[in-house]
Amino acid sequence: MKIISNPFELKEQLKGQKGSVGFVPTMGALHEGHLELIKNAKRENDFVVVSIFVNPTQFLEGEDLDKYPRRDEADKIICELAGVDILFFPSAQDIYANDEVKLEAPNVRGYILEGFTRPGHFSGVLTVVLKLLNIVSPAKAYFGKKDAQQLHLITLMVKQLFMSVEIVAVDTVRDKDGLAQSSRNVYLTPSQREAALKIPTALYSGAKLVSQGVVSVDEIRSKMLHLLSPLKVGYVAIVNRDFEPIKQIEIGNTIILIEALSGETRLLDNIWL
Ligand code: PAJ
Repeated sequence: MKIISNPFELKEQLKGQKGSVGFVPTMGALHEGHLELIKNAKRENDFVVVSIFVNPTQFLEGEDLDKYPRRDEADKIICELAGVDILFFPSAQDIYANDEVKLEAPNVRGYILEGFTRPGHFSGVLTVVLKLLNIVSPAKAYFGKKDAQQLHLITLMVKQLFMSVEIVAVDTVRDKDGLAQSSRNVYLTPSQREAALKIPTALYSGAKLVSQGVVSVDEIRSKMLHLLSPLKVGYVAIVNRDFEPIKQIEIGNTIILIEALSGETRLLDNIWL
């Protein structure tokens, strides 16, 4: 496995590359969720590039940028063992200049839910993903359904900017107890982790209500909110695949999303119906 930090060097390296390139962007502290993206990329491409870059522009003032978990050495070994061909490991200076061209997340879908809690977050995500996709020029890039709004906005960006890459959505990987894998789970104490299990429990209960024929979004939401108590809930949202609010569940076109705090740790999860 080659480790490259300079974007121009990586572009040069990939220029002569034969076969299809699959790309998995990450912020490191790799876990089974990331590995699932890498496995999919390996299966569907001749050559796999993974990036690890804790992108400063997607963190707001006062967020956990400085203490975001970093496990560079372990991550390198994980990538090597997973059969990654190139690990792209840039610094902030490699990616950003002063006085930059700006990319803005869309006014509505970029500023609801996660974008409402974290205004500007998705502009930072889209900016870095656009830069990374331009550097790597992959045939396919892999993103997790776990970050459903991020996945939606990236898919929208690729369509609206007429980009050639195919965005592949990968199912959420969970621990045995049902908690969605996340780099931020390391912040949880055992009792906070126990409390966090209310999140997948509420999602599964929502899905069960739907399977029993309940279609009212208000009814499902209020039952889920009840199950989540006493967690501090940011939102329980039920939207269609275009992230528009809906009144009734439409199977095949619905996502139920939860943002909740366990202790100080903000956790995201969702289920696609
Ligand atoms: P990060 O949180 O490291 O996640 C990298 C990718 O892994 C994202 O596409 C995310 O949705 C996916 N992922 C995380 N947990 C997962 C799980 N349990 N199951 C399946 N996939 C999972 O998301 C980011 O980084 C950044 O915003 C990034 C896109 C790299 C831009 O900086």
